[in-house]
Order: sequence, then C-alpha cells, then structure tokens
Amino acid sequence: MTTEYPSAARLGTVVCTDTGPNVMEFSFVVEGGPNEIVARRGDFISIVTENGTVIARVQELVRTNRYYQHAEAVREYQSRGEPLRSIFPTDRWQYTVAKTRVLGLWENGKTVRPYFAVSPGAVVRRTDEDTLVSFLKLDKKDGLNLGNLAYQTLEFMPSVSRLLSKHLAILAMSGAGKSYFVSVLLEELLSRKKNQGRLSVVVIDVHGEYSYLKDIKPKDLGLSEKEFSVEHIRGSHIQIPVQSLQAEAIGSLVADMSSIQIRDLRRVISEIRETMPSGYNIADIVSYVQNDDTISKNTKDALISWLINLDETHLFGRGATPDVHSIVKPGKITLIDLSDFISLKKKQIVVSHLANELLSLRRREEIPPFLFILEEAHQFCPESRHELALPKSRIETIAREGRKFHALLCLISQRPVKLSTTVLSQCSNQAIFRCTNPYDLEHIGRSSEGIDRPSLDAITTLEIGEALFIGETVSVPTFVKIRPRKFEPSGLFPSLIEAVKKADR
Ligand SMILES: Nc1ncnc2c1ncn2[C@@H]1O[C@H](COP(=O)(O)OP(=O)(O)O)[C@@H](O)[C@H]1O
Ligand SMILES: [Mg+2]
Repeated sequence: MTTEYPSAARLGTVVCTDTGPNVMEFSFVVEGGPNEIVARRGDFISIVTENGTVIARVQELVRTNRYYQHAEAVREYQSRGEPLRSIFPTDRWQYTVAKTRVLGLWENGKTVRPYFAVSPGAVVRRTDEDTLVSFLKLDKKDGLNLGNLAYQTLEFMPSVSRLLSKHLAILAMSGAGKSYFVSVLLEELLSRKKNQGRLSVVVIDVHGEYSYLKDIKPKDLGLSEKEFSVEHIRGSHIQIPVQSLQAEAIGSLVADMSSIQIRDLRRVISEIRETMPSGYNIADIVSYVQNDDTISKNTKDALISWLINLDETHLFGRGATPDVHSIVKPGKITLIDLSDFISLKKKQIVVSHLANELLSLRRREEIPPFLFILEEAHQFCPESRHELALPKSRIETIAREGRKFHALLCLISQRPVKLSTTVLSQCSNQAIFRCTNPYDLEHIGRSSEGIDRPSLDAITTLEIGEALFIGETVSVPTFVKIRPRKFEPSGLFPSLIEAVKKADR
C-alpha cells in the first residue's frame, strides 16, 4: 500500500513488466501530456510504503504509441500522403515508461538494503530535497559547494571528510574540466571558516594554472586579511637542503643506485657532517668523494657523475625553500608552480622531496593534516616500470598509509591507464569527468568498485564540467554539474585566434 506524500510532485504510477517490479528495478508510466518532459534520466524518485521510502533513480525512458507499432501500417499511410495523426488521435496514445533502478530503502533516517518489490499501481513522486540530502549524505551546512546534481536544482555539497579523507582521484580526458574543478574545490577550501575546520593544501601546479588564486581579495571571499593565506612558490626558487638528506634520500632521487653505492655515500655523508657541521652542498660531497681513497674507482665515478647531475638541476643548496613547516598551516594554500621547468626529472625531484617531507613531518605530527594536490599524476607515479618515476614509491606510501594520519592525496590525471594501479585503487573517492578512451574507461571500471556498466557508458557522454562522483563522497554514484568558479584567471591560456592575433600585431 502507498501513502500520500504531500510536498513532492507526482510523477507516475508503477506498472508490471516482464521482470518487474522486482527488488532492484521497476518501471512506471510517466504522467503528463504527450510532449511534456516530466521525468528525466537521472531523476531521484520515491515511493512511500508502509515499510519505508523506496528511493530509486530513472535509468532510461521509453516512449510508446500503439499507432506506430506496425511498420507496415505506418508505411501504408505514409505512402498515401496522409500522416497517421491527421486521421487518428495518435497523441492521446503516446506515453512514456521510465525504467528505474532502486538505490535504497530509506527507513527512519537510515538507508537499508531493499528487500521487497514495490506494488504495481504505487504512486511515484520526485524525492523531496531534504530526504535526498540525507540519503546522499550531503552536508548543506558545512559541505563544499561544488555545483549541482545533474538535471536538479539541488546543490552538491559533500562534506570535506567524505570527499577528501580517503584520497581523491580526478580522472578524465584533457579539456574535460579537471583543473577547473580543482579551482572550484580550492575556492571552497579557501573560504572556510575556522569553526568549519580548515585543511592545509599544497598544490603541485604543473602548468601554473592556479597562481591567480593569490590575487583574490580576501574580502571577496568574506574573509579578513588574516584569515586568507595563499602562497605562490616558483620552481626556480625551490632549494632542497642538502644537509638534511640521508644517503637513501639522495639515492631515491637517482634512479637505480646500488646498495653498495648507497653504503659508501652513507659513510661519506656521516663523515662530512662531522667535518662541516655548519652545512654543506653537493659540490662539497663531490670533492669529499673525490678525495676518499677507500671507495672503489667504479663506485666513485658513478657517485660523482650522479651527484654532478643532481647539482646541475640547481635544486639543491644549504637553505630550505620552501620550509615545509611554514607552508602547511590550517586554511593555507601553497602553490608550487613548476611551469618554468621543462625537465620532467626536475619536477619529479621536487615532488619526491616534498612528498617525503610532508609525510614524515605529518607522521611526527609536526604539521597539521594536509591535502597534497598533484596535477599530471601519471607523470609522477606511472604504472609502467620503464618510466622515470622518482616520486612513485613516496606517493604510493602516502596512498597506502597516509589516510591513517590524514596525509591526503588528490591526484589528477588525463591518462588513468598510465597511473599506478596501487595508487588509484587506494583512492576511495573518484570524480570522473568526460572520458572516451576505451582503455582508460576499462581501467577506471576495474579500479573502482562502485561503478556499474550504465554509469561507465554515461562517462563517454558527459559534457565539459560534468562529473560522476563515486566512492565515499556520496552514498550512490552521482552525476554532478560543477559550478562556475567565482574568480577567473586572466589571460592564462589564450585561444588559438587570440594567440595568432597577438603574434600578428
Ligand atoms: N564547470 C565548468 N564550468 C564552465 N566551464 C568549464 C567547466 N569546466 C571546464 N570548463 C571549461 O573547459 C575548459 C577546460 O577545462 P580544464 O579544467 O582546464 O580541463 P582539464 O580537464 O584538461 O584540466 C576550461 O578552461 C573552461 O573554459
Ligand atoms: Mg588540466
């Protein structure tokens, strides 16, 4: 038996089909005139029963009209030049059947697994917003306002804990809206008040896309000068302090150093620490190695050439810029702008060093919980063993262990298939934007449990700025239209025509 549900609009009536209504699926005939669109794909609908409210989602819509069921008859009238609708009341016989998939049974504010089939004849209504918010586990008060549910007016406001506490992967083909979404996320994180809980964020900004955030006026976000903190650090200013690096750390910045070489380097470093207690740089280590007669010639040559290679990156020195203690502060966003670097190796060295520092300082609780946002993640932790991947093991460690002490990752990639599966499978949350490459889709399907075939297919049809959220963020996979950002970067990537005109001036 169904009861009335006053606030929500009536959408239709459940009908019998070959297989339904069953526990997980049912169809209903949609109300309204022949050309009205009353129910849309993706709509959340409810049926109130004595045992709780069944919440389902419209998967497919089929329009039927018995006048058009027989191709022969239609052809006959067509060839006579008399459209069927001029003779018969065809409009009156058109109707729409909505096929739905049951998402859950909502009972006293809790979701339980559905265990009965709804009755044919039951009245179907749109799920009212309050129920939908609780059912999806959104947080209207303190959540992040990231956009709207697709085709709905309901704001998509997941809580910070649900979205970020178990790592987030943002996946899509290029140009689908990943970085735009990250800017929206950063805007939201920046505008949080102290009592809402403020995360500290470190962004590896490979293309310098987010540097405009530092120019936001605090009052435009409703913040005081003191509450607003964005620091922009250029790659060319970065200095990794050599005296803080153990031999293993230097070894990890050089692909395939052998254990014998690391052992020798460890001894050299411990000796040099004693002889130069006020600090030293790579050149000092090089000359120390050169003068050390206990190291075999082969090891010596290899060590020296690696050390010189590292020194040539100009990333190493006596000071520490940035000082990780000072960049990881509640509510602060630090942009590590690597857009000046062409060399992948240099980018990797910076990422590897920062990932290591962040994790070890967080482990010792010397810095607050943080979110580490990594653009082009497949360049830093690739699946393939044949690619240079200096930061890979560090990022994998954060992925595996970081969530326990709130060292969190947000990984962005346009080539999910190239991203380490270890890392991807540790990201309990995924925001998937448009993606048409079948290999990438297959990879996404395999690495995320919460995704079914129809949702996977729908990913190919998403528009720019639309995403499917799966995982812990919402209780069921949900399509979202990301909101426009409040602040626009100026003249970042000119269009082709703009660039051509500029060159022709
Ligand atoms: N949610 C959105 N709303 C409006 N425009 C968007 C949205 N998402 C993306 N765009 C447009 O698409 C362009 C490409 O998006 P971007 O995020 O840079 O793609 P990518 O996935 O390669 O990072 C943006 O510059 C913007 O113009
Ligand atoms: Mg991008």
